[in-house]
Amino acid sequence: MHIVHTIAELREKLSSYKRPAFVPTMGNLHDGHIALVKQAKPLGDVTVSSIFVNRLQFAPHEDFDSYPRTLDADAQRLEAAGCNVLFAPREQELYPQPQTYKMHPATDLSDILEGHFRPGFFIGVSTVVLKLFSCVYAGMPSGIAAFGKKDYQQVMVVRRMVQQFALPIEILAGETQRAEDGLALSSRNGYLSEAERKEAAELSKALKALGAAARAATPADLPALEAQAMQALARRGWKPDYLTVRRRADLMPPQASMEEPLVVLGAAKLGSTRLIDNLEI
Ligand code: PAF
Repeated sequence: MHIVHTIAELREKLSSYKRPAFVPTMGNLHDGHIALVKQAKPLGDVTVSSIFVNRLQFAPHEDFDSYPRTLDADAQRLEAAGCNVLFAPREQELYPQPQTYKMHPATDLSDILEGHFRPGFFIGVSTVVLKLFSCVYAGMPSGIAAFGKKDYQQVMVVRRMVQQFALPIEILAGETQRAEDGLALSSRNGYLSEAERKEAAELSKALKALGAAARAATPADLPALEAQAMQALARRGWKPDYLTVRRRADLMPPQASMEEPLVVLGAAKLGSTRLIDNLEI
């Protein structure tokens, strides 16, 4: 595997290929990332991953400084998974000057849920993803980019950006990988204390319970069911931001019926660690 740090080196390594399969990450890789690399690999003619902790998607009070940076271990895992090129730019390479041009996704999708609790998050994500896409795919007739469904709203925001700007990129959404007790794998799980780690699976259990209750309910019942689910987590010591049932199509609350494809999404803080998860129902 080639490890490159500049856009020029990346483009040089990709110059003889036509269809990169690309997995953008912020590093500290877990089995979820590796599963994405393995899924994407057969769909392209070269497999590329990036590791870049993107300051633009962190609010000043968030964990940009403490976000785990584990490049050597990550590179070994990527190589073992069959990745051909790892792009690990320094901040100065991707943002040589303040990023004054930014991608602003439509607010109907990006100002709700994660975007509501993390204002500006999807502007930061969309901007860096577009930039990484331009580094990897410039001059390519087509490509594949893989994202994990744990970040459900992120996948939707990126998909819409790709559609609206007619980027010749197919988006692959990989299933969430879970620990045995159901906890969704996340780089942020490493922040949890031993006791918090034991408690952490309660978020996925709460989503499952809310999903089951929602299936037997009407749209009008949902606000009460969601409030109960949040209160139950709060009684266990969590600080929930949201637990909610939404339409998969646009992440809006179901209006007329519960028959359409739905997803239960949740975000909550356990101690100082904010976890997110979701479950399609
Ligand atoms: O999901 C992530 O790790 C990040 O949001 C991404 C897509 C790599 C952009 O920085």
